[in-house]
Amino acid sequence: TWTNEEIIEEQVRAIREQVGDKQVICGLSGGVDSAVAAALVHKAVGDQLTCVFVDHGLLRAGEAEQVEKDYVAATGIKLKVVDAADRFLDALAGVTDPEQKRKIVGREFIRVFEQAAREVAAENDVEFLVQGTLYPDVVESGGGSGTANIKSHHNVGGLPEDLTFKLVEPLRTLFKDEVRAIGAALGLPDEIVWRHPFPGPGLSIRIIGEVTRDRLEVLRVADKIAREELTASGLDRRIWQFPVVLLADVRSVGVQGDGRTYGHPVVLRPVESDDAMTADWSRLPFDLLARISTRITNEVPEVNRVVLDVTSKPPGTIEWE
Ligand code: XMP
Repeated sequence: TWTNEEIIEEQVRAIREQVGDKQVICGLSGGVDSAVAAALVHKAVGDQLTCVFVDHGLLRAGEAEQVEKDYVAATGIKLKVVDAADRFLDALAGVTDPEQKRKIVGREFIRVFEQAAREVAAENDVEFLVQGTLYPDVVESGGGSGTANIKSHHNVGGLPEDLTFKLVEPLRTLFKDEVRAIGAALGLPDEIVWRHPFPGPGLSIRIIGEVTRDRLEVLRVADKIAREELTASGLDRRIWQFPVVLLADVRSVGVQGDGRTYGHPVVLRPVESDDAMTADWSRLPFDLLARISTRITNEVPEVNRVVLDVTSKPPGTIEWE
């Protein structure tokens, strides 16, 4: 077996050989795969790489800053940030159907990325696109490679034909745990290296009902509290994912101080899994759940009830939408 340093060295060599003196582009999602793939390519070819981060406004608290500040500080990567939150929110206005939300976010994402890629390509004559394809993705898709296209993270097809690139896929032989180890060896921040998987459509599918700016803000605060407490408990590396879901179209009566409230419930959905195909609900300690519940109801005025999802997958999915 290879050490992390040997894997890094070998990938750096292979990337240099493939790319030569050509320009490279990479889309960052905030997730560990694209972050590690880009860091490897940067180590190999430096400023021949330009990264693009489309901020769709559907990330969790602090995640955009992690990419824009911490990741750039750790790697020195050249980053183009596109703040597209307004555009995504406008496109999502009035939409409640889960598949509709996915389609809209996917469609807008491709349009925005395409525009940014055109700008970068026009300046630099880009020939290669980095993708964080892992070994299990390669197996699942039958091993194909070549030119293309943005990972199906967003459940849509790829870039238009006049904007195709040759792919650089430095993680093609690796599993997730190896990717994390390499990310750590490359000096990436823990928050990125150990981030739980997060869906492309982001918080839009964790708000049950229409996605609005206010609802996103409510969910972000509740989600941040749950993540903080999970991390403080030391259990977050045992948990596969911990969606926090805002039932924005449901209200329930509560009582706080002298008055009645009529607020929204949030659902805690911590799960354990190896591959997301099946999952079991996490038996988190009651004290931890209690701390999360108390803090959310104290700190988020719109939320007056916290409930725990005790459904396995199947029959439930991990996400609520
Ligand atoms: P479910 O909810 O189907 O989720 O049990 C399985 C895994 O996939 C993630 N997920 C998505 N990821 N785009 C993505 O990139 C999506 O539309 C999407 N929907 C679900 C989910 O977070 C879990 O890891």
